[in-house]
Amino acid sequence: MELVDKDCKRCKKCERICPTNTLNIDSKNTHGDYCIECYHCLAVCPNKTENDEHVLGSNFQYSIQPYDFEQLMQQRRSNRDFSSKPISNELLSEFINNMRFSPTASNAQKLEFTVITNKALLQLINDSTISTLSKTFKKSVSPITKPLISTFLGRKAYTGLEKLKGKFLKKAAFDPNMICYNAPALILIHSKKTPGGMPLQDANIWLGMATLYAELLELASCINGYIVNAVQRNKTLKKQMQIPDDHQLHAALLIGRSKKKFNNRVDRKTPQVNFI
Ligand SMILES: Cc1cc2nc3c(=O)[nH]c(=O)nc-3n(C[C@H](O)[C@H](O)[C@H](O)COP(=O)(O)O)c2cc1C
Repeated sequence: MELVDKDCKRCKKCERICPTNTLNIDSKNTHGDYCIECYHCLAVCPNKTENDEHVLGSNFQYSIQPYDFEQLMQQRRSNRDFSSKPISNELLSEFINNMRFSPTASNAQKLEFTVITNKALLQLINDSTISTLSKTFKKSVSPITKPLISTFLGRKAYTGLEKLKGKFLKKAAFDPNMICYNAPALILIHSKKTPGGMPLQDANIWLGMATLYAELLELASCINGYIVNAVQRNKTLKKQMQIPDDHQLHAALLIGRSKKKFNNRVDRKTPQVNFI
């Protein structure tokens, strides 16, 4: 990357905006020791165009208004009624590729994606998640564990867990597809286990943005915490998903087309906000 080229006017906007303060135009040090390659320097440079490496363009022509975004947020819903229509690998690849602008801590960009569209494997993930979590609930929330949980976490915590267990087991009994909802694709977000970084947060930010992007593409989506939870307890399931041993699964997103449309936008609780 040639930051200080023949057109450079030494305005030093790049130096001032660099989040790691390692840029020094006078000494032509444009890639300091702590550079995170966020390219704020290129984004702010008045001389760079799309002909330069890493620059996509200089036009900011999106026409989304705040009102549009508010509507989009209200319209997005978790979908649990997927059509069996498959979703192409091309579309999924393009979706994930376009999502690369989602921010990551220190611009780490360490997230990796596994996309499962194989029907038999999706069914296996559904069934293994139900059996793994049913076992976990039965083992960890019982009259034997009650005194321990009540002592260390409080009686309320135990009652909460008991309720959760009841809800899960009841749902599993009458809806055998309660995990994957017959979705045609599952995106798993994982990264190599390394100290430092904030991959879990990166993955969750990715999820938030992806669900809005999916809505705009008229794709149905549902974030799935159960699968992530089950993988933490079931190494075989992780293997079956072909997630490398030295990787941590952070998040899962079911994606496809919806059978139904939601008619109404509904309200949420007013956030509790403290101004200090
Ligand atoms: C971190 C997280 C985990 C979730 N896990 C599941 C899940 O395992 N199964 C499911 O059906 N929905 C899951 N959801 C969806 C929530 O239940 C849903 O967001 C919530 O009910 C609000 O509804 P909405 O998304 O339609 O606005 C999850 C959502 C989040 C944010």
